[in-house]
Amino acid sequence: MREDHQDAVHRVDAARLWQRHMEMAQIGAIPRNGVNRAAFSAEDIRARHLLVSWARARNFSVSQDAIGNLFVRRPGLDPDAPPVMSGSHMDSQPRGGRFDGIYGVLAALEALEAIDEAGVETRRSIELVAWSNEEGGRFAPCTMGSAVYTGARSMDEVVGATDNAGIVLAAALAETLAALPDARQRAFKEPAAAYVEAHIEQGPLLEIQQKTVGVVTGIQGLRWFNIEVFGKTDHAGTTPLKLRKDAVRAAVDIINALRELTHDPADVLRFTVGRMLVTPNSPNSVASHVLFSVDIRHPDAATIRRLGDAVEPLARKAAGVCDVKVTPTLQDDPCAFDKDVVDTIENAANDLGISCMRLASGASHDANYMSRVCPTGMIFVPCENGVSHNEAENAKPDDLAAGARVLTAALLELANR
Ligand code: GLV
Ligand code: MN
Ligand code: MN
Repeated sequence: MREDHQDAVHRVDAARLWQRHMEMAQIGAIPRNGVNRAAFSAEDIRARHLLVSWARARNFSVSQDAIGNLFVRRPGLDPDAPPVMSGSHMDSQPRGGRFDGIYGVLAALEALEAIDEAGVETRRSIELVAWSNEEGGRFAPCTMGSAVYTGARSMDEVVGATDNAGIVLAAALAETLAALPDARQRAFKEPAAAYVEAHIEQGPLLEIQQKTVGVVTGIQGLRWFNIEVFGKTDHAGTTPLKLRKDAVRAAVDIINALRELTHDPADVLRFTVGRMLVTPNSPNSVASHVLFSVDIRHPDAATIRRLGDAVEPLARKAAGVCDVKVTPTLQDDPCAFDKDVVDTIENAANDLGISCMRLASGASHDANYMSRVCPTGMIFVPCENGVSHNEAENAKPDDLAAGARVLTAALLELANR
């Protein structure tokens, strides 16, 4: 590794990086160390302001696009060369932790600052990106900002999404964009030379193997659906069971049928019903309407396609006397990351003497969409007991810093090609 690159890497400051995580975790803090920072909420806006304040203190330029993706740029020597990008997301699950997403944003900022402090010039600009609405916990589907940025989805497809309170995404987005009036407006799909995303692993493998960094080889495929069951409200005490159109009962039957469909003795397949809205949601009324989400994941493209295609017919069959509507909300094929970027990350870890292993990602990430438009890779760091999407999410300051060092070295390498 070049001496000036080594200098930059050694300026990655574990204490500063940790401190920033703790400051961000104040925004949307919930009990037990958790974070609730929904996309396009007041908390999301505060997080954006905090990030921008750190960026501007360094004279890095700030821009945002029409879906609210936020960009922080350190210019390179060649203004016409497509930048190298790095980032993740600042929104969280409703009961999320202090590291999912925000680590990738703060690690990229740390890399930019370390490079700046070392005074290293790069041929390409290096650009941090904080993607909008990665989690999809408030407005489905997830990984929305990167999907729209890369052209996998259109604005028209997403602006009508509503949250559980009936707020329309377009309105919440407009408020979010207006909160940064002096950010330069930028277009979607500006060319990028490469994209590297740092993230906590959200699983236990690195901890079990006692490795500090995961060199991510790709992301498994995923299908999302909203299933709505339509029944009829009746009195719980008086209506005979055989006369009911009970939407909760039908929903349970559908879920059981889907559980059978997705049963996998090898435990590779993932099946989750994580969201359920019941109407009228009263103990002594038969439910007239249930909406629930379905999330199915598998690393094999043919398997995920076959299972996803089976959802609607199975739901119809299992719904009994109730009516059912199945709406696909997301379909992502498995992706394999760019060999060259993967090698660059692995070489950076080896050069720095940071222990690493290759692994695939079970969770989805914005890197999935970026991999369709430019060479892409990811860096994982361990999280305690592999716990994520949970208030208890935890990580070690030294591991976060080690990941940021590998990121810094990889970005410098890619930015000088
Ligand atoms: C991302 O948070 C995912 O659901 O994989
Ligand atoms: Mn995440
Ligand atoms: Mn997440």
